[in-house]
Amino acid sequence: MSAQVIDGKAFAAKVRAQVATEVGKLATEHDLVPGLAVVLVGEDPASQVYVRSKGKMTVEVGMKSVEHRLDDDTTEAALLDVIKSLNEDPTIHGILVQLPLPKHLNEDLVIGSIDPAKDVDGFHISNVGLLGTGQKSMVPCTPLGCLMMLRDHHGSLSGMDAVVIGRSNIVGKPMAQLLLGDSCTVTIAHSRTKDLPDVVRRADIVVAAVGRPEMVPGDWIKPGATVIDVGINRLDAPEKGEGKTRLVGDVHYESAAAVAGAITPVPGGVGPMTIACLLANTLTACCRANG
Ligand code: GUN
Repeated sequence: MSAQVIDGKAFAAKVRAQVATEVGKLATEHDLVPGLAVVLVGEDPASQVYVRSKGKMTVEVGMKSVEHRLDDDTTEAALLDVIKSLNEDPTIHGILVQLPLPKHLNEDLVIGSIDPAKDVDGFHISNVGLLGTGQKSMVPCTPLGCLMMLRDHHGSLSGMDAVVIGRSNIVGKPMAQLLLGDSCTVTIAHSRTKDLPDVVRRADIVVAAVGRPEMVPGDWIKPGATVIDVGINRLDAPEKGEGKTRLVGDVHYESAAAVAGAITPVPGGVGPMTIACLLANTLTACCRANG
């Protein structure tokens, strides 16, 4: 293996420590505690794990953590009522509605009901528009975490060729905007892209965010390129015993690491950075709300 491994776990711990320091200053100098509310509808096991871990880390950095767990059959009106009360609560600075929502709920309507200033996910169309026009906004946590790792590794990204594989609203599109903001030449590739291997081979930076296990093999990677793997896919792992799974990314790690200059592992790469950026966004929202 030749690639430098980008340690997202260690980087995220550093970011959380910086957030904790700032939270401590807010408490002593301004008697202010940032508050993050997470709303979870239904019983999705993966979402439950995320929400638990978000709550734990929120408390660890000294913030107030509030969780609203609603039944699977919660009505849209009831959910909107919860969001309205959080919008109006001055002790809450960040609101996150865990996605995906059950099918009977309109995700766009629900996200659109969050006060954009408290939208720490950066999913509200006001924040999407602000990011797209290069204005001060709330930036989606996963792409923000990827950008921080890229800046940390490279310094300037100016003039680099970047390919983002995946065009989701949560990762692909905002990732492309952020890279463009850092003066990369950006291509967004997706399931209809012609000759994807060739497109990826031209890139100095590859961000894979498609949700397909090990879809990007090493021979698509330009030697020396930086590979950011956003995928978290659970595969059966018979070697680990009955019912056991292993996590893999969207990139085939071993073959890609043999040619890349740097690569994020799964787990321990992008994942921990997402929560760290959520906490950083909550701190930012609290500071903006209080001048
Ligand atoms: N589900 C998976 N990732 C995310 C995320 O970043 N934010 C929210 N709200 N839901 C998610």
